[in-house]
Amino acid sequence: MSPTPVTETSGDDSDQKTSPENTIQLKIEIPETEPLETLRDVWNGVVNPPVCSIKSENADDKSGSFDKDNTFSISESITNSVGAENGDSDLVPENGNGGGVKTTSLLKHSPSLGMGILEDFLEVPIGGSGKNDGLENGSATSMMDEAWSQLAKAFIAYRGQPVGTIAAIDTKESDKKESDTKESDTKQSDTKESVKEILNYNQVFVRDFFPSALACLMKTNPDSDVVKNFLLKTLHLQGWEKRIDNFTLGEGVMPASFKVFHDPVRQKEVLQADFGGSAIGRVAPVDSGFWWIILLRSYTKRTHDYSLSELPEVQRGIRLILNLCLSDGFDTFPTLLCADGCSMIDRRMGIYGYPIEIQALFFFALRCAKQLLKPEHVDNKEFLKRIDKRITALSYHIQNYYWLDFTQLNNIYRYKTEEYSHTAVNKFNVIPESIPEWLFEFMPLRGGYFIGNVSPARMDFRWFLLGNCIAILSCLATPAQATAVMDLIEERWEALIGEMPLKIVYPALEGHEWNTVTGCDPKNTRWSYHNGGSWPVLLWLLTAASIKTGRPQIAKRAIELVEQRLEKDGWPEYYDGISGRYVGKQARKFQTWSITGYLVAKLMIENPSNLLLVSLEEDKKISKPKLTRSTSWTC
Ligand code: GLC
Repeated sequence: MSPTPVTETSGDDSDQKTSPENTIQLKIEIPETEPLETLRDVWNGVVNPPVCSIKSENADDKSGSFDKDNTFSISESITNSVGAENGDSDLVPENGNGGGVKTTSLLKHSPSLGMGILEDFLEVPIGGSGKNDGLENGSATSMMDEAWSQLAKAFIAYRGQPVGTIAAIDTKESDKKESDTKESDTKQSDTKESVKEILNYNQVFVRDFFPSALACLMKTNPDSDVVKNFLLKTLHLQGWEKRIDNFTLGEGVMPASFKVFHDPVRQKEVLQADFGGSAIGRVAPVDSGFWWIILLRSYTKRTHDYSLSELPEVQRGIRLILNLCLSDGFDTFPTLLCADGCSMIDRRMGIYGYPIEIQALFFFALRCAKQLLKPEHVDNKEFLKRIDKRITALSYHIQNYYWLDFTQLNNIYRYKTEEYSHTAVNKFNVIPESIPEWLFEFMPLRGGYFIGNVSPARMDFRWFLLGNCIAILSCLATPAQATAVMDLIEERWEALIGEMPLKIVYPALEGHEWNTVTGCDPKNTRWSYHNGGSWPVLLWLLTAASIKTGRPQIAKRAIELVEQRLEKDGWPEYYDGISGRYVGKQARKFQTWSITGYLVAKLMIENPSNLLLVSLEEDKKISKPKLTRSTSWTC
């Protein structure tokens, strides 16, 4: 069957420079004040003519070009990328001529922009780093080796096929508990199984598998089978009837996790899935379906295997997931209304409402679905229109109402309340007295971020790393906002990165607030676990966002910190303390996504082309917000 093109139809590259097929454009925006000649010279030094075809205003200069607005464009040929026939779509099947490539990444110049990283970008196709899958000299090499070997142990097979990775293999914990139960005459394997059961980390979590899958796909010779098996198995689980007590969940809900176990009666391996019924608080994982769609795009982009995404069952699976989010209701906002604990933070932490993590993942998944759904399919036509409308509405809403920087904070501080009608400036009737004290100190003059939640009379001003990074990768953040987020991370390094990257949320809830918001959760005490703990898995997200914004030094600094401790500490799930100094109170060791978060970060730093597996380019057709500009925007 010859695959048909999958294109992102709303993409608009009409203002791009003419570039040959099979090219990637990197744009570096240079501030007015920058001495252009110097940068041009540097570029000439890093460009490698055999792999780059670069246009320039200057006929002699084959290395790149500066636009009128001081944007420097580089065209790059890469052999194994996939591209577009129209607009900025980046998923197009190979056509026998090597496939069409036309995709745009924005690398914004900043003081920390490293030319070395761009050199790599130009020289290496997606996949291996050209350095033996991330291996380099010294201790980092052995740490990478160790990470790969730990990842190899984490694979779970189902009827002879790898289908995912286990959340954690905490052998020390297991050994300890095993010796406690030694007198039992149960077979050792059963004991291990029951120990893992106690630990409740013997499952393949959909969200946890995402960085495992990326590591598999970013290798020189990708291990794509496990990713494909995972996508198909979870799709199969989506088809199950999902009941909690007498209530049936929506058809599109994807499991939070599944496990493989041996059914002694039927004498065969069976799958058991959790759709929230076994989770703390019994909340369905809203993020799972989004991660699934995003991973399907990464898989397709890396492998060019369009036959998977084009399967009618897969096309239907995508629609079912998004149907849960696009159906009509009482909503007045385009954002998704969620229960507490419906994502990575899967316990009560006051993220109910419209949490940024879910909104950013929703946006990312909508944009990926636009690339994956076949427009000619009769069921997809109307659906794609709904997707388009939601993308526009969602980006407007988030870019306008979630964005916070110094100027915006000052505006909110001076808000009037009780404004009725559509002319209201304070649209959600936020009472300025609800601005927490810490925020006035925390907010730098340079930088900004998307706050945690916006709903009537409620702004959750906390910083959440995952939502902000996903906003950057999906281009939910404008280029200026993306830059400002990275500025904030630099400005507030101690608070957000500390001694062990990275804070999942800042700041922690304490005292009475902890009491009322978490329900006195002893696992989420201040600066621990989800409540201001530090999670190494988030390293891959920071790294991807850093590369995308042209600030790889930020990621490199964080990686150095991780390399000092993570392996020695046994790859814990999370760290505790205001600066993340202590291994988490109840952290599992050999947590798979701590291992893969590091691997993926390294694989991207060593070959920034790998970023393309988890990053979308800007869609210029999405209407721009009308926002007041602040210092952090005028860069
Ligand atoms: C914890 C985390 C959750 C993760 C799971 C497996 O429950 O909160 O995000 O998916 O462990 O690692």
